[in-house]
Amino acid sequence: FQPKSLAGRRILITAGPTFEPIDPVRGITNLSSGKMGYAVARAAREAGAEVLLVSGPTALETPFGVQRVNVQSAQQMHDAVMDALGGQHVFVSVAAVADWRVANPSTQKVKKSADGSVPQLQFEQNPDILAAVAARTSLAGYPYCVGFAAESENLLEYGAAKRERKGIPLLVGNIGHQTFGQDDNTIILFDENGHTILPRADKLTLARQLVSEISKRIEKNSLF
Ligand code: C5P
Repeated sequence: FQPKSLAGRRILITAGPTFEPIDPVRGITNLSSGKMGYAVARAAREAGAEVLLVSGPTALETPFGVQRVNVQSAQQMHDAVMDALGGQHVFVSVAAVADWRVANPSTQKVKKSADGSVPQLQFEQNPDILAAVAARTSLAGYPYCVGFAAESENLLEYGAAKRERKGIPLLVGNIGHQTFGQDDNTIILFDENGHTILPRADKLTLARQLVSEISKRIEKNSLF
């Protein structure tokens, strides 16, 4: 009998894209199917954790036994995460959060003008949810924060730098065009000792490997 590696642990996961409204029928979003985040939620539940999934708009079914909160915008995702943060042992930020939102969304559908003039959008910056959670990490190291980075090049260099900049113990890197919408992926784990490549596999297999890496790491620094 193998005890489940995350039994008794609470884990909060964000997944999917965010959607930032322009008006009631239009918006801007990021490329993300939600598959990787949902796979992490499923794997964490299989490992015995109590899982809360804060999800942007996706076409996916909630994994068995996982509690899900649906949000649209980055601000809503931020607020849902902050509300649920107390007592969480792990935070895994898989969502592709929009960096900017439209500062002046219209409450009514914007109409096409007869003279061909186009709407002027102003943007403002969204909160960085992962950085906000990392800033709340307790002295005992909880919640243990795991970030994701989708890069288009120089992943080894950018991944290590991003882990440091975000102030998190573990960052998972992947290459955008090798993962978006796909069922499999290649990921690289960056931690204080360097990097480890997890070779191409389906997202659930990688999610299970990631969950096992997370549980090893929280056991090491555990005061619980
Ligand atoms: O800096 P970058 O956006 O590439 O960092 C990606 C990581 O930060 C992901 O884990 C993503 O979920 C998280 N993130 C966030 N809030 C943002 C932007 C990114 O939580 N506004």
